[in-house]
Amino acid sequence: MSAREKGRADGKKEGAKPVEELTPLEAAAELAHLASEIARHDKAYHQKDAPVVTDAAYDALKRRNAAIEARFPHLVRADSPAGKVGAAPATGFAKVAHAVPMLSLGNAFSDQDVADFLDGIRRFLKLAPEASIELMAEPKIDGLSVSLRYEQGRFVQGATRGDGETGEDITRNLRTLPGFPAELKGRGVPEILEVRGEVYMKKADFLALNARQEQAGEKVFANPRNAAAGSVRQLDSKVTARRPLSLFAYAWGEVSGEPAWTTQEEFHRRLETWGFPVNPDARVCKDLAATLAVYCALDAKRAQLPYEIDGVVYKVNRLDWQRRLGFVSRAPRWAIAHKFPAERAMTIVREIKVQVGRTGVLTPVAELEPVGVGGVTVARATLHNEDYITEKDVRVGDTVVIQRAGDVIPQVIEVVKDKRPKSTRIFHFPERCPECGSHAVREEGEAARRCTGGLVCPAQGVERLRHFVGRDAFDIEGLGEKHIEAFRKEGLIQTPADLFRLRRREAEIAAREGWGGKSAANLMAAIEARRSISLARFVYALGIPQVGQATAKLLAKHYGTLEAWWKAMQGAAEADSEAYRDLTAIEGIGPAMAADLIEFAAEKHNRAALAELAKEVMVEDFVAPKVVDSPLAGKTVVFTGTLARMSRGEAKARAEALGAKVAGTVSARTDLVIVGADAGTKAKKARALGVKTIDEDEWGRMSKGG
Ligand code: IVH
Repeated sequence: MSAREKGRADGKKEGAKPVEELTPLEAAAELAHLASEIARHDKAYHQKDAPVVTDAAYDALKRRNAAIEARFPHLVRADSPAGKVGAAPATGFAKVAHAVPMLSLGNAFSDQDVADFLDGIRRFLKLAPEASIELMAEPKIDGLSVSLRYEQGRFVQGATRGDGETGEDITRNLRTLPGFPAELKGRGVPEILEVRGEVYMKKADFLALNARQEQAGEKVFANPRNAAAGSVRQLDSKVTARRPLSLFAYAWGEVSGEPAWTTQEEFHRRLETWGFPVNPDARVCKDLAATLAVYCALDAKRAQLPYEIDGVVYKVNRLDWQRRLGFVSRAPRWAIAHKFPAERAMTIVREIKVQVGRTGVLTPVAELEPVGVGGVTVARATLHNEDYITEKDVRVGDTVVIQRAGDVIPQVIEVVKDKRPKSTRIFHFPERCPECGSHAVREEGEAARRCTGGLVCPAQGVERLRHFVGRDAFDIEGLGEKHIEAFRKEGLIQTPADLFRLRRREAEIAAREGWGGKSAANLMAAIEARRSISLARFVYALGIPQVGQATAKLLAKHYGTLEAWWKAMQGAAEADSEAYRDLTAIEGIGPAMAADLIEFAAEKHNRAALAELAKEVMVEDFVAPKVVDSPLAGKTVVFTGTLARMSRGEAKARAEALGAKVAGTVSARTDLVIVGADAGTKAKKARALGVKTIDEDEWGRMSKGG
């Protein structure tokens, strides 16, 4: 194995420390990180059918995890991703416990990996080093695995893999597959027989389905696998019935009695006689050379196959050997998946478009001269972000290499510089949102450029409005995402202020499908009930990046009124302003958060939207819990210098408990400055302004009993 291949086989990320050099502390931290990352990807892939990384990147994470676990076995986590297959079933379907777990497969990426696989088997079975091991090589279908249970030859239950132990009951959906074998044919069918296989969608069917979906204004699928998964996991089997799904059977789970077959090949033949569709390209291979020849032949044939495959599965042909070999963690020792490299093609960039996501992130996309990649026509590919374009210097008119790796959006991976026409120009990433014209800014250390027009940007509209009416914000009941989407589409609401003008259109809403007078009236009442709102909720509702409930509360407490807060956010735009210092002096508000607040307030579209909103609602001033009997109640105090007897945090908490507001800077509005040791300019300023100052001893007496 070359050094590069070795690195890849360990799942080592470029720039990551080699596993051998990790300290236990680093290993534990990385295992924790990997567990959550992998769980996130599993969820995206298995439950949402919307993967966010390539299979190769996912495999790399798993390998890195396995390598670290192998070196630090005592650090293996209870939630180790190595022990998991897929993700736990989503709710909505009945659960099915698999009598025999549905496992995953180990991966091979190089010829050497396959040779190692065979050597490992020889060692395990104590065979001679040159002993031949027959393998059954089968195309690895890129669909989703299912389990089909038959009793007395009758189909009784179908399930998804789920997490390998428990899947989802999709019996009704599977019955709708054309030619589905509901009754098995021929003799020798075991009384209980669980057959496993792959539900998939043919490339042509996938394209036709997407065309239909697009026409109907419905979701289009990223690839055939997602389309198959999304179709089979429909709660309404009538929908599944309209989706063109296919099936290949290739393995077994629970079987009553002893299996009557002695090889994988024989099982295949039985599957066929029982009436299951089996893959016509499965071959028995005598040795490594024959196995690799099948792999190459399938790779070459791949683009012409009517369905997608992402590798070749090798299975030890002899069943007695399979039994002896058994399993390692969650994969059989007797089988492995030899993956194909990602598919690539060359084409021309016609245009570079910038899309705005639901959260305001700007993503550049290359519009391409359509090109076939592995049997699917690709007309767009992601360019990831601004830096990616700059680094590769991708330009309109360039010839580029694109890659399609199984499940994710195709990506531009290389520019063919020799083919660049003379007339091309460097691409300049827009600094304004292409959807709403607001400023698009990039925080330090972040790859993404984000639209700051949160309140007005149509791309972010649904997300923002959903947040705005959410339980912790305006808490308007009866206005779910679906309604927001529909209302937006028809121009009933654009910005938050529009919600409060909806009552003028109550009759129109009542007349809508699924509504009626009563529900429209209820919604109006729910909206009216929220015309008055606390400042903290109001600030939180605006959905400013990084400003959660806790921060909103801090701001409300510090500024007291909407006017004061909003004015301060405008004033803080100057970095050396009083307002800026005051803002960043609030404990819990750092420079990054301050930057987001300032950007939000600086965006003129947001200012207009907020002004409109302020006309519609009454924002209550922040009321500090009244503490009577305290000389500090309602006073604004400032601490400066070092206190000897208590920390700044404690002093502040005490002052607040006594009803004071603690500010970071001294102004004419300050009532009291507590001056510790080595105090600087603040103490001076207080004296200059005639603000009362006290020392720590006096502060101690004053705050006692508080
Ligand atoms: S055999 C214990 N054969 O690949 C072995 N799996 O990464 C079980 N797959 O979950 C799997 N084509 O969804 C097998 N011809 C084939 C396959 C195949 C596709 C999928 C299957 C499995 C996954 C493992």
